[in-house]
Amino acid sequence: MKISQLLIGLCFSVLSLAANAQQPIVIKFSHVVAADTPKGKAAEYFAKKAGEMTGGKVKVEVYANSTLYKDKEEMEALQLGAVQMLAPSLAKFGPLGVKEFEVFDLPFLFASYDDLRKVTNGPVGKQLLAKLEPKGIRGLAYWDNGFKSFSANTPIKMPADLKGKKLRVQSSKVLEEQIRALGAIPQVMAFSEVYQALQTGVVDGTENPISNFYTQKMHEVQKHLSLTDHGYLGYAVIVNKKFWDGLPADVRGQLEKAMEESSRYANQIAKVENDQSLEAVKKSGKTQVYQPTKEERLAFKKQLVPVHQKMEGRIGKEIIQSVKDIGFKPDSL
Ligand code: LMR
Repeated sequence: MKISQLLIGLCFSVLSLAANAQQPIVIKFSHVVAADTPKGKAAEYFAKKAGEMTGGKVKVEVYANSTLYKDKEEMEALQLGAVQMLAPSLAKFGPLGVKEFEVFDLPFLFASYDDLRKVTNGPVGKQLLAKLEPKGIRGLAYWDNGFKSFSANTPIKMPADLKGKKLRVQSSKVLEEQIRALGAIPQVMAFSEVYQALQTGVVDGTENPISNFYTQKMHEVQKHLSLTDHGYLGYAVIVNKKFWDGLPADVRGQLEKAMEESSRYANQIAKVENDQSLEAVKKSGKTQVYQPTKEERLAFKKQLVPVHQKMEGRIGKEIIQSVKDIGFKPDSL
């Protein structure tokens, strides 16, 4: 081989090495909800911040609306390293074997975002995230969505109005029990399938915060929505632990800062987004929105609170009690 050929070859190698060195680290962030929801917006916010704060060393690609994976698959994909970041609802950690997370699914346990924050920002919140480590998952933050409403094609004022109905819930033993406590039939189903199931009558109704109800267009296929606020829906932002630990320390630090800012943003917009979705549902004129009276909401509470005790064996009595100590009142709102 001539010297000139050798030199050209060497140049190419150096150039390709330099090009590789500049390739950003890609983080695939998959989620199941629409982009214009609290979670969708916060994911985009994090993508922007991560790019800025690492000086372009990291590129976060956000895949909304189950475009990469559906509910169950996304957790497996994270554990395998096919995606690096998710923000599943807290309910999704029960099927993973970390049943304590189902405490967040207990009906009427949290009276407000403030109550919730005391748990997620406190020692219980930290302990729960630590339980994900043996599963190869690092928990980074909690993001809010909001409080859930029930919907159906017939009016919902009292618990008896849901009796006998097939209601879609996410995969959670606590949520299944909650539906049974109403005399209704729980139907576990992936989020991406709910619209069609409602449209075709495979299920009669469902529950979710209004931001999910509206952005999945459920208002097109449900005639009634009752603002029962009977339970909370929120998320944990999680990463593949091996990937995260393998990042250069400076980059990881910058990403942690980006996550802190994004979490503040997420928890600031959650209520506003849900309020705006409620207005949009009302404006659509397709679903009749009902605000239950205090007595009606209390009737729901009375019927659903026994689920707490029923689920003690599964979730853990201590953890339920530690949440209740924040100020749970069984008989009032
Ligand atoms: C659901 O399945 O209803 C929710 O968990 C979807 C979500 O991520 O908000």
